[in-house]
Amino acid sequence: MAVLVAGGAGYIGSHISIELLNNNKEVVIVDSLMNSNEDVIKNIENITNKKVKFYSLNMINEDELEKVFKDNNIESVIHLAGLKAVGESVKKPLEYYYNNLVITLNLLRIMKKYNCNKFVFSSSATVYGQPKTVPIKEDFPLSTTNPYGTTKLMIERILKDLYNSDNSFRIVMLRYFNPIGAHESGLIGENPNGIPNNLMPYITSVASGKLEVLNIFGNDYNTKDGTGVRDYIHVVDLAKGHIKALEKIEKDDGIFVYNLGSGRGYSVLELVNTFEKVNNVKVNYKFTDRRPGDIAECYADISKAEKELNWKPTKTLEDMCRDSWNFIKNSK
Ligand code: NAD
Ligand code: WQD
Repeated sequence: MAVLVAGGAGYIGSHISIELLNNNKEVVIVDSLMNSNEDVIKNIENITNKKVKFYSLNMINEDELEKVFKDNNIESVIHLAGLKAVGESVKKPLEYYYNNLVITLNLLRIMKKYNCNKFVFSSSATVYGQPKTVPIKEDFPLSTTNPYGTTKLMIERILKDLYNSDNSFRIVMLRYFNPIGAHESGLIGENPNGIPNNLMPYITSVASGKLEVLNIFGNDYNTKDGTGVRDYIHVVDLAKGHIKALEKIEKDDGIFVYNLGSGRGYSVLELVNTFEKVNNVKVNYKFTDRRPGDIAECYADISKAEKELNWKPTKTLEDMCRDSWNFIKNSK
């Protein structure tokens, strides 16, 4: 009996695969490598001293994906595969809707055919749109501001409809806040190609000299120091949340939704200052205009996940900054 990790060569999926292997699960990874590479698979094996079965395939191809279910006894699926860049999704909406929706439909149709009923989905805090208050609870109104976010919301709705039509499915939708950090080995982490969209990879690029200066988007927000506040969570804490989500649907029927964040808000300046301090490096920055679409503050109420999943993040902002930098130094 194996867990299929769709998108398992990616940033978050690779950390989840390690946690699964450490919990003695058999792991099958499917990934097209469109935003990752095969070295990640070797590194997962090196870190855990265990083997994973890897299929390099585009999940748009339903026949190839079905073969994975034919060849293996897949007991549950963690679905992380998808395109994830907010700005790019505005420029290429059809690509985003096509990729993210079709691969999910293919996966669910095949799962139904093979009577595989346990599904954990990577959703995002982006489905809360522009929340009126913080901290954000799971029952807050949902809306989106870009095609990427809309794919997440549409998939959540598809999953609800699927469950309503067939309640043998057991589904967990995990709404991630801002994952950063890396595995403590320094062997896997986040190192996007080109100019990064997200704050932490931008910080590491400036610290390593790849980029000259970090533009801090706005210092006139109504926050503790004027810069945007977000809920950064260590990717290893996030990965452990998936183990708990699987345990939940191993014992309980239903469809569930949980926020996964640290439950705390940190400003851009707090993150930059902590990064500089724990790593003893300089991050040049300047203040620029606000980024269109950004909100002042976004952080999670994580009490539902703490209570129902018996999960609690344990890593500090210092750990996140140290591990992110350790990975980049190691991969130079
Ligand atoms: P990632 O890009 O590192 O991983 C996604 C993986 O999916 C990549 O390895 C990519 O090659 C693969 N993939 C994409 N389309 C595919 C296809 N058609 N067939 C097969 N493989 C395909 O991204 P990540 O940061 O690890 O994010 C994982 C998931 O979590 C995504 O669904 C993302 O939307 C969601 N999420 C991420 C964040 C974040 O800030 N990183 C926040 C909230 C939600
Ligand atoms: C964090 C803070 C920026 C870059 C995005 C997606 C969301 C989710 C996580 C997938 C903000 C500031 C950033 C920079 C900056 N992804 N910033 N200079 O916007 O909270 O969320 O990633 O689901 O859907 O929207 O994350 O890392 O881009 O920004 O000042 O160069 O850093 O303004 O306050 P965000 P982020």
